[in-house]
Amino acid sequence: MMQRKQQQQRLRPCRFTPADALVIASCLLLLTSTSYAFHVGGTGVILHSSSSRSTKSTSSSVSLLEMATVDEAAADQKNQVLDVNDDSYDVVKVDLNDGRDYPIYIGTSFTNEQLSDMLTSHIDGKQVLIITNDRIAPLGYLDKYEKLLAPHKDVHTLVLPDGEANKNLEILQLILDKALEEKLDRKCTFIALGGGVIGDMVGFAAAVYQRGVNFVQIPTTVMAMTDSSVGGKTGVNHPLGKNMIGAFHQPQCVVIDTDSLKTLPDRELQSGIAEVIKYGLIRDSALFEWLENNMDKLLERDPVATRYAVKRSCENKAEVVKADEKEAGVRATLNLGHTFGHAIESGSGYGKWLHGEAVAIGTAMATTMSAELGWIDSDLVERTYRLFEKANLPLELPLDSPMNREIFLNYMAADKKVANGQLRLILLKGPLGNCVFTGEFDREAMVNTIDEFVAECDGHSS
Ligand SMILES: NC(=O)c1ccc[n+]([C@@H]2O[C@H](COP(=O)([O-])OP(=O)(O)OC[C@H]3O[C@@H](n4cnc5c(N)ncnc54)[C@H](O)[C@@H]3O)[C@@H](O)[C@H]2O)c1
Ligand SMILES: [Zn+2]
Repeated sequence: MMQRKQQQQRLRPCRFTPADALVIASCLLLLTSTSYAFHVGGTGVILHSSSSRSTKSTSSSVSLLEMATVDEAAADQKNQVLDVNDDSYDVVKVDLNDGRDYPIYIGTSFTNEQLSDMLTSHIDGKQVLIITNDRIAPLGYLDKYEKLLAPHKDVHTLVLPDGEANKNLEILQLILDKALEEKLDRKCTFIALGGGVIGDMVGFAAAVYQRGVNFVQIPTTVMAMTDSSVGGKTGVNHPLGKNMIGAFHQPQCVVIDTDSLKTLPDRELQSGIAEVIKYGLIRDSALFEWLENNMDKLLERDPVATRYAVKRSCENKAEVVKADEKEAGVRATLNLGHTFGHAIESGSGYGKWLHGEAVAIGTAMATTMSAELGWIDSDLVERTYRLFEKANLPLELPLDSPMNREIFLNYMAADKKVANGQLRLILLKGPLGNCVFTGEFDREAMVNTIDEFVAECDGHSS
């Protein structure tokens, strides 16, 4: 680690050559929206609720909302927590075509009445299936939502086994079995109550059950609140690759009650923060700087800081999803560190690493590689490492890791971003907040980076 850091300090400063300009130009062609590819800060629309506690129904609450641009909010955010009124909640809107827009409600202490109003106004039919796992159910969340909806809907529940290792087709089948056994019709709604594993699986089940039924996300981890519950990517893992089986299927709404993070273990909390740092690195330098100054508060679960980080993350995600729902270009940038990270998750065995931990190591690799290519300044590498360290996230593989160059390259060759046999990566380029999605890089730099990270692993020497 020290050695790697010293190497980083010797790296060349960022210089743009004519060849770089060509790479950037070709990436711009690949991307559907140039402004997002090298974008810093946001310009999306956020809706603020004015007096949500007295709001009787969600449909009317949305009409009461005032519009404000994110830019205004982002301008002064550098070192301070956004001034939010404890008595209100935020609504970030995900703009999609064909009338599929949906709100993300973000609050700290919703009343039962608010939750019930929000949910029922986005659930059309009578039948509801709430799906969670056996770690979350005993914490009382399932009971709470079941009771909230019971007076209005015909509520069924299903508790799946916990864990990334259970994010597969076999467990997904249990959802479909339950829905068929209960004779749920095409107007039913599935509710995903849990982290990213539950959200991804339930979303995929909703995408395929009777060729597609509605679903609602109630995320309960930082990872799910800031990333996985937004944007409609659903799916399960395959032994040969992470998230290899899935569908795009957008929810009707996302309800984020940050109070539910009170029961989340520290390690899971930190894992989710990896994705928040990601938004800062790829497109939101102000968020990155805010994280540098407020990481302690996030780790302490300060409600205002938490809510701000969740809101800003959802805004970033909503903007990217709006620009490129099906990942034709710019949406791929949300995968910074994920090609390396997914290889680590699959290659180490699902469940060994939390997703955010693998992404943290993967981001360290992408950052190191970007610097080796001379695309970023060594100062940015240092800042990135420092921020991940502050969040207690890993930046290197442990000695007993089975990973080696061959395992990395095998899993990376099967990555969803491979096009016509060419591996494409998200790499940092230029000042903080800028990245590229490109296949035009020196392959040797990638292999050198992998070698550097596996050099001391058991897998390397075996
Ligand atoms: N669809 C997307 O766009 C997207 C984006 C990012 C990540 N993901 C996926 O998300 C998954 C990771 O999500 P995750 O980190 O939320 O993992 P997770 O769903 O496994 O949740 C982490 C752990 O915390 C427990 N838990 C959840 N909420 C809790 C609470 N409030 N209190 C106590 N315990 C709680 C869970 O049961 C689990 O044991 C990965 O499979 C990843 O591929 C998907
Ligand atoms: Zn991720």
